[in-house]
Amino acid sequence: MAGLGDVQNSIYLGGLAGRRQPVPIAPAALREAARAALNPEAFDYLDGGAGAERTMAGNLAAFDRYRIVPRMLSGRAERDLATTVAGQQLPVPVLAAPIGVLDIVHPDAELAVARACAALGVTMVLSTQSSTPLEAVAEIGGPRWYQLYWPNVPELADSLVHRAEAAGYSALVVTLDTPLLGWRPRDLDRPYLPFLAGHGIANYTSDPVFRSLLPVTGSPAEAAMAAVQTFVRVFGTLALTFDQLTQLCAATRLPVLVKGVLHPDDALAAADSGAAGVIVSNHGGRQVDRARPALESLPDVVAAVGDGCDVLFDSGIRSGADIAIALALGAKAVLVGRPYAYGLAVAGQDGAAAVLAHLLGELDITLALAGCCRPSDLVVTPG
Ligand code: FNR
Repeated sequence: MAGLGDVQNSIYLGGLAGRRQPVPIAPAALREAARAALNPEAFDYLDGGAGAERTMAGNLAAFDRYRIVPRMLSGRAERDLATTVAGQQLPVPVLAAPIGVLDIVHPDAELAVARACAALGVTMVLSTQSSTPLEAVAEIGGPRWYQLYWPNVPELADSLVHRAEAAGYSALVVTLDTPLLGWRPRDLDRPYLPFLAGHGIANYTSDPVFRSLLPVTGSPAEAAMAAVQTFVRVFGTLALTFDQLTQLCAATRLPVLVKGVLHPDDALAAADSGAAGVIVSNHGGRQVDRARPALESLPDVVAAVGDGCDVLFDSGIRSGADIAIALALGAKAVLVGRPYAYGLAVAGQDGAAAVLAHLLGELDITLALAGCCRPSDLVVTPG
C-alpha cells in the first residue's frame, strides 16, 4: 500500500476542512469511547480477560520491555510494508484477528469489518463464532482467512472447512487455545455468555451437518433453544492431538496456521504436522490467567522454528509502535484484536476502518522516523 504516511496528513488536512476522525486516536481514549458506546455486558465481554486479568495486563506491559533505537541519515526514503505469509503476498503486515459475536458490538458486525478491511487491503480472519454466516462475509470480496474452532463432531469440522474453501477463504487459522472457554470473572459475575442467547452461532445454524444434529422441535423458540444446546454440546474438545492436526493439514488444500501457541515445542510440532504458520498468541489474555505474555514467547518461537514455518503474532497490540516491535522481533505479520472492535463499537465500519488506518499510519511513520525501509531494519533493544 502506497503512502501510508499520508494517513497523518489527511487527518490534519481533513481537520482544516472540518472533518474529524470517527474514533479517538489515543488507544486509551478509544477504549473509553467503546465503553461509552456499548452496554456494560457487551463492553466487558469484549474488553475482559481470564481470571484477575494479569496476562491481559502482561501482554501490554511486555511491550514496555523493548525500546526502538532510531537511526539517522539512513537515506531510506521509502517504506516497504509488504510481507509473504503462508505463501501469500500481503500488502501490509497487519490482519484483523478473529473476534466472535460482533453483533453485540454493532448491528453491522462482521460485514462492517469485512468492508473496512477490504478498503485497506487488510486480510480479515473470520471467526467460527461470527454473527454472520461465512458465505455472506465472503460476498464482500476482500482478502479473507477462516478461523476454525475445532468442534468435537469430525463431520462438522469437515463441513466448516469445506464451506470456507468453497467461499474463497485463502487460509485456515486453527485456534488451539480454546477447547473450552477461559474463566472470565466479568462475564461470570453477571452471568453473561452471548452464545446462550443465540449470538455468534450463525456458522453452525447455517451448516447442514449441524442442522442434522438438531432434534425435531415444535415452536421457533424451542428450535432456537435446541440450536444453542447443540452448539454447547459440539463446541470444542480437549482430546485433540498433533496427529489430528497432521490429518487436517493433509485434508485441506488451504494453508493451515495454528493460533494460540506460546511454547516453542508446540510451534515445532505444528510445523512438523504440516502447518504453514504459527500465531504466537494467548488469545488476548482471555484463556489462562498467568499465562506468559505473548510478546515474551515471540523470540523463543522465532528462534525455534527457524525457516520451518511462518511466525505471526497477536495479543496486546495497541499502537503502530507495538506492531513495529513485534515485526522487528521476527513476526512476519501481526493480528490486531480489540482495537478494531472498539472502533466498530464507536462508529461501525468507519470506526473499524479508522482504527486500522491509524495503526498502519503510525507503523509507517515509526519506521520512517527510525530510518527504516522494512520492519527488519528496525533496531530494537531490551529496555
Ligand atoms: C477473541 N479472540 C478470538 N480468537 C479466535 O481464534 N476466535 C474467536 O472467535 C475469538 N473471539 C474473540 C472475541 C473477543 C471479544 C476477543 C477480545 C478476542 C482472540 C483474538 O483473535 C486475538 O487473539 C486477541 O484479541 C488478541 O489480543 P488483543 O489484540 O485483543 O490484545
